[in-house]
Amino acid sequence: MYAERVLSGMRPTGSLHLGHYHGVLKNWVKLQHEHPCLFFVADWHALTTSYDQPEIIEKAAWDMVIDWLAAGVDPNQATIFIQSRVPEHAELHLLMSMMTPLGWLERVPTYKDQIEKLSHKDLTTYGFLGYPLLMSADILVYRANRVPVGEDQIPHLEFSREIARRFNHLYGREPGFEEKALAAVKKLGGKAGKRFNELRTRFQQDGDGAAVEEGKRLVNEAQSLSLADRERLLGHLEGTGKMILVEPDALLTEASRMPGLDGQKMSKSYGNTITLREDEASVTQKVKRMPTDPSRVRRTDAGNPDKCPVWQLHQVYSGAETKEWVRQGCTSAGIGCLECKQPVIDGILQEQAPMRERAQIYLDNPALVRDIVNDGCAKARKLAQETMTDVRAAMGLNYA
Ligand code: TRP
Ligand code: SF4
Repeated sequence: MYAERVLSGMRPTGSLHLGHYHGVLKNWVKLQHEHPCLFFVADWHALTTSYDQPEIIEKAAWDMVIDWLAAGVDPNQATIFIQSRVPEHAELHLLMSMMTPLGWLERVPTYKDQIEKLSHKDLTTYGFLGYPLLMSADILVYRANRVPVGEDQIPHLEFSREIARRFNHLYGREPGFEEKALAAVKKLGGKAGKRFNELRTRFQQDGDGAAVEEGKRLVNEAQSLSLADRERLLGHLEGTGKMILVEPDALLTEASRMPGLDGQKMSKSYGNTITLREDEASVTQKVKRMPTDPSRVRRTDAGNPDKCPVWQLHQVYSGAETKEWVRQGCTSAGIGCLECKQPVIDGILQEQAPMRERAQIYLDNPALVRDIVNDGCAKARKLAQETMTDVRAAMGLNYA
């Protein structure tokens, strides 16, 4: 078994906002203390839909990394890197494309949805169709088994699992390997079987080279073993009879719906966002201009918080006491809307203060960010290369 490994990626599309913070980044920050984590800038993914705007990628990528660091992703705990700097993602994507049925890609539910939704763009491209396979390569190349994603990405993760299964079926360990190997040990006979197990343990636990050599001799000299059983025993001895790719599990982020300035979900496409590091004056302005309960026209009209987007932000930023004050004051016309908004403004500014502070360090010294990413790319690449060695061998490409 492999250790738990967390991997997630984000497309560089522009400044991150508080919706990203509450929906994704807070969770990353928590996970980095619990597991080895890999977080990457999915720049190739940005090109699957924005292939006609290559000029936005570079700035968006660096800004996004600064946003992550600002939010508290710690480069000493997590590996931060850029997808295009680890070409092994592309190699695995290519190799897996050989065995990916077209129908599987065409049936991914987001495929037709997105083509319709983004109808102003020609997305009838090879790259866009293959996007779930690229995402699979991102995950499988690290044998990551925990992938924090939102609801919308679940079909892609399911696709990744199916691809891993198909790959292992075609090139990897046979189904039921473990049982068959144990049965083959029995066929060695009591005494030789016992010796085999001792040697296997000595090799796998202590890396004892003499033990593995003796084990191989024992297997090769054994009488009346089928060729398949012999191979199983050799694989079992060295521990190579393993799955090549690991089926990942989704790590569903608990649905935290961050309301935007208009009460809809916060999203760039609705134009209702506050960015992670938005300056104080702008935050204040935006909240002050937020619509409130439409039936509260005059200050003297009583309002209903349930019909007010500001109330939703109080759910995120205010404690029980403040919420009680709002409910009471709103329904009795005891407080004005501007007054009611002040605790929300304070809450957002307070949340952003440490982020702004952390970001400033990196804005003042961009070389720090480059170093973090260079370091992360090198670490990621090493892990990816380990997997690719096995993948190449499995697909008949390990000749020099
Ligand atoms: N597809 C994801 C998105 O659009 C980003 C992504 C790419 C990703 N590769 C990934 C997320 C691998 C998790 C794991 O949001
Ligand atoms: Fe909304 Fe607060 Fe105004 Fe009530 S008092 S309508 S909750 S902003």
